[in-house]
Amino acid sequence: TPKGSCLESVKIAIDTGYRHIDGAFVYYNEHEVGQAIREKIAEGRIKREDIFYCGKLWNTCHPPELVRPTLEKTLKILQLDYVDLYIIELPMAFKPGDAIYPKDENGKFIYHETDLCATWEAMEACKDAGLAKSIGVSNFNRRQLEMILNKPGLKYKPVSNQVECHPYFTQPKLLEFCRQHDIVIVGYSPLGTSRDETWVNVSSPPLLKDPVLNAIGKKYNKTAAQVALRFSIQRGVVVIPKSFNPQRIRENFQIFDFSLTEKEMKEIEALNKNVRYVELLM
Ligand code: A2P
Repeated sequence: TPKGSCLESVKIAIDTGYRHIDGAFVYYNEHEVGQAIREKIAEGRIKREDIFYCGKLWNTCHPPELVRPTLEKTLKILQLDYVDLYIIELPMAFKPGDAIYPKDENGKFIYHETDLCATWEAMEACKDAGLAKSIGVSNFNRRQLEMILNKPGLKYKPVSNQVECHPYFTQPKLLEFCRQHDIVIVGYSPLGTSRDETWVNVSSPPLLKDPVLNAIGKKYNKTAAQVALRFSIQRGVVVIPKSFNPQRIRENFQIFDFSLTEKEMKEIEALNKNVRYVELLM
């Protein structure tokens, strides 16, 4: 991201009405997000408690003793006292150290054996210390969630699981499991990603070109993007669309003045291809 564009985008988003901001240390723009929030608070447009900031614990920081210092580093970068939600970004660990993607001389990732339940206990301690209001996970499958939910002495269960979710990857089974356990699904790539070949499986067709989404959009005078977002929120999935374009930031917020019929919801559900854009091959 070009320097400053995140700062500007977050300020436009807050002015537009967005309150949930999905961030991470590994996005390398938390300083800009924090600055945008603090500027909007200083302007009197929002109060800190209006904002819902989600931060993430990266793979190299899973050992329990690293969890709190890692969150404290994020808070220092943000210049905030707490995050609203802190989540384990991925259910597997890399070797701790300065390299975000540690690799050996053959270019293979260097993994690290840690106990997810012990990492979770360190997350619980961050909540107890008031550094995170809530704690959750990301990219966890059912087995990994069950491991936490069934942990002896569990103090707090994950409030949310952030996973890829959109009309081409609807996650029906995981959604049902999470519903049963009161875990909110936060859907990333709700618009089908930026189709950046370095991390996206582009063999799956572009979501926003989908004829069904476009035809339904036409009926409501909405774009395919707005229909895709509306579809997700209408089935109880939180959406975190990414845009650094002011017009599209505003467009993606105009989804509360129409609703899809049951038939349209079914039609969109039927688009599920069970193919991920974000394969996370590591
Ligand atoms: P841009 O930042 O230029 O707006 P996802 O949220 O699924 O990861 O998708 C993000 C991608 O979708 C980005 O490339 C973003 O580009 C683009 N995008 C965001 N909003 C819209 C929209 N309303 N219509 C079309 N493309 C969009």
